[in-house]
Amino acid sequence: MLASYLKFAEPQLDEATLSGVVEVLRSGQLASGPWVQQFERQLSAFCAGRPVRVLTSATAAVEVALQLCGIGPGDEVITSAQSFFTVLNMIVKVGAKPVFVDCDLVTRNIDLAQVEAAITARTRAIVPTHYPGALVDMDALLDLARRYELRVIEDAALVIGSRWHGKNVGAFGDLVTFSFHPNKNITSIEGGALIVNDEAEAKRVDALRFHGITYLPDRTRDVAFPGGKFNLPDVNARIGVAQLQHLPEFLAKRRSLVEHYFARFASDPRCLLPPTPSPTRDDGFSWNIFCVLLPLDRLTITRKAFRDALESRGIGTGVSYEALHLSTLGRSYGGHEGQFPNAERIARETVTLPLHTAMTNTDVDCVCTAVAEVIATARK
Ligand SMILES: Cc1ncc(COP(=O)(O)O)c(C=O)c1O
Repeated sequence: MLASYLKFAEPQLDEATLSGVVEVLRSGQLASGPWVQQFERQLSAFCAGRPVRVLTSATAAVEVALQLCGIGPGDEVITSAQSFFTVLNMIVKVGAKPVFVDCDLVTRNIDLAQVEAAITARTRAIVPTHYPGALVDMDALLDLARRYELRVIEDAALVIGSRWHGKNVGAFGDLVTFSFHPNKNITSIEGGALIVNDEAEAKRVDALRFHGITYLPDRTRDVAFPGGKFNLPDVNARIGVAQLQHLPEFLAKRRSLVEHYFARFASDPRCLLPPTPSPTRDDGFSWNIFCVLLPLDRLTITRKAFRDALESRGIGTGVSYEALHLSTLGRSYGGHEGQFPNAERIARETVTLPLHTAMTNTDVDCVCTAVAEVIATARK
């Protein structure tokens, strides 16, 4: 039995970080200051020296990435129907048309065969979301993008710390976005990062995230296009710097909790689980969320009733994610039921179980026992 309520996600901030925040507040330099530069330098080192810019969220990073690619009205952007609203919203916000494809049922990653089939003369970019457990096949994705001359904007919000052929996500590829929302592997409270290819792109991001301003030799400023206001405060960057140092230990903790989930579910395999960690493939695959598909067709209860039952036992859950093409916005672009069976089944059956660094294996045991009991009492 749980002593207190178990949230499905929770950040871990140590006392040194809190003291660091107070120091920043006392310093008087609160925005676009030294801690922002330090956070960017450290993220750049993490990404093999590629230029990095931090922003107020991953959502801002996706918007700026699309603008950096010059994507707008008349352009199409291919993305998975199974992702967070950010991707759909930002494609629409820059004036482009979202083109959805389905995902794999187990890895939840975008189906690259369907991506290729969806490419038209108007396609400008592919925006895949990586899921914990298995990355999108980056060799195949980058090869596809090269063949059709498309930009790739990786939504890596869930997978900072994952590696592909030994390289960190963000250390290779085209444009990559991270999220530092409190539910992610590391947090800056709110915040995000955009990894770009060269200094020219980084300079353009500087303007896109700060009013479109460029600085003139006579120390006045000019604006040639309407930029956004997405610069990260130094307080957030200070937290981000501290969190990045803890990333290896946070990832190790998350992985060990996930291993325990897999061990527990192995003896009670009624839910469909994420891809099982393999000793060769799993090294570096970060676990931000642990989602299962409920066997709803064999239960007498709805997902809501299942979640309510866990809630009444003090266990928080989430939904990652609704199907984008079935949102009101997605439907306005032709999205309809039956279009993407895997994304729709995930949207119907998925439940995000608690996973964060303050948890213990005993917490995982409590969650698994509760899941098993609720399912057992609701069997048809
Ligand atoms: C897959 C995915 N992409 C993007 C985002 C957006 O991140 P942010 O809240 O930093 O804008 C989220 C947030 O939950 C997410 O889960």
